[in-house]
Amino acid sequence: MTQVDVLLGLQWGDEGKGKIVDVLSPQYDMIARFQGGPNAGHTLEFDGKKFVLNTIPSGIFNEGIMNLIGNGVVIDPIILKRELDNLKKAGHDPVAAGKLVLARKAHLILPTHQLLDAANEQKMGAGKIGSTLKGIGPTYMDKTGRNGLRVGDTTLPDFKGRYNKLVEKHKEILSHYEFEYDLAEKEAAFFEAIEFIKNIPHVDSEHFVNSYLKEGKKVLAEGAQGTLLDVDFGSYPFVTSSNTTTAGACTGLGIAPNKVGDVFGIFKAYCTRVGGGPFPTELDNEVGENLRQVGHEFGATTGRARRCGWIDLPALKYAIMLNGVTELIMMKADVLDGFDTIYACTHYEHNGETIDYMPYDIISIQPKPVLKAIEGWKTDLTGITKKEQIPSQLADYIAFLEKELEVPIKYLSVGPDRMQTLMLK
Ligand code: GDP
Ligand code: IMO
Ligand code: MG
Repeated sequence: MTQVDVLLGLQWGDEGKGKIVDVLSPQYDMIARFQGGPNAGHTLEFDGKKFVLNTIPSGIFNEGIMNLIGNGVVIDPIILKRELDNLKKAGHDPVAAGKLVLARKAHLILPTHQLLDAANEQKMGAGKIGSTLKGIGPTYMDKTGRNGLRVGDTTLPDFKGRYNKLVEKHKEILSHYEFEYDLAEKEAAFFEAIEFIKNIPHVDSEHFVNSYLKEGKKVLAEGAQGTLLDVDFGSYPFVTSSNTTTAGACTGLGIAPNKVGDVFGIFKAYCTRVGGGPFPTELDNEVGENLRQVGHEFGATTGRARRCGWIDLPALKYAIMLNGVTELIMMKADVLDGFDTIYACTHYEHNGETIDYMPYDIISIQPKPVLKAIEGWKTDLTGITKKEQIPSQLADYIAFLEKELEVPIKYLSVGPDRMQTLMLK
């Protein structure tokens, strides 16, 4: 019997999960998304081509690998259809190839969930979360509120009746906002997409994944968002609405905790965040702008500029603890190629004390980062292919991080392409 390895982000998302899942997927029989929805944008680059996936797991470009959209994911049928249509235009048809399946128990994002997301954010004004406006929060609310519609419901004879009942409820809530909307066009697209997704095989993800494990096959669970956006442990309320941590892989696929194997934690050599909320190491200055331009830090889903800052070790240690990370993967080291000096936040100053953890009141009193200066490597990393070519300053930075974080860094990413990945261990 095998176990499920988990790969997830340790920061505020966009660490490069899509790229690394694609790189690792030849080692697996199945890639399974376990939470989040089309708020995610996972970018893959190979053979001069670039793809952004929102709902579909990042294993679809490799041969012989099953891809599961798990029960913990929330699905916008319109976006899923668009993703598959675009892939087809680019010569990839994972449905026809029999390598994509959908969990019956995954919840559906309705057009009115998106309207509720938008109405709510509009009302919050300056204090808004900075949601991707994909309807994620309202859909998970209906899931936990026991009102939601699931993929498996689409084949029931009274699906339309159930849909209407939920939409009436949403319209009632929307009437309390000063918010104008036009539902008709979206609704037509929704029902067209519902018919379309009936062509993707529906499975019970819990049985599907466990049968793979029983047969000794290898499964990799692909996280979305990042640990610091986790609904329980992130900087609440500036979080997403799912458990982005390893525990989420258990509930989002139907696997027992003792079925979790390796946990790959991905982080950038610096840090970014998109949307509102605390970000202690943020560089709201030209250094941050430099990171944004060199790292192309603009959202894969919404195009919004990502906030940029230095690496935050107290936050990373927290994420490693919560997830049980066994191996680290450092991304985007090449973005720091031009810096004479880079910095790492080792502690925070908070209420007159020096602390090394994220405090509960981080929302109201943002801690001040204590920064350690690190000599830059001033070398173009994008063409290196062997660990022997790593400049000594970068080797020192890696050794420093491993000592601080107490977990080995197994892979180093030096560019967006599949090939720009070095195995260190
Ligand atoms: P994800 O949501 O975690 O999959 O990450 P995103 O795709 O949203 O954002 C990561 C961005 O960085 C994408 O544009 C990737 O193509 C790019 N990327 C990934 N790894 C590297 C790297 O090592 N160096 C550089 N320069 N870009 C990278
Ligand atoms: P990937 O998988 C970065 C952020 C939003 C907002 C907050 C809540 O590509 O790393 P939501 O739409 O979930 O209600 O938004 O979470 N957010 C992400 N930030 N990467 C993502 O996904 C994100 N998904 C949501 O910007 O601050
Ligand atoms: Mg992303």
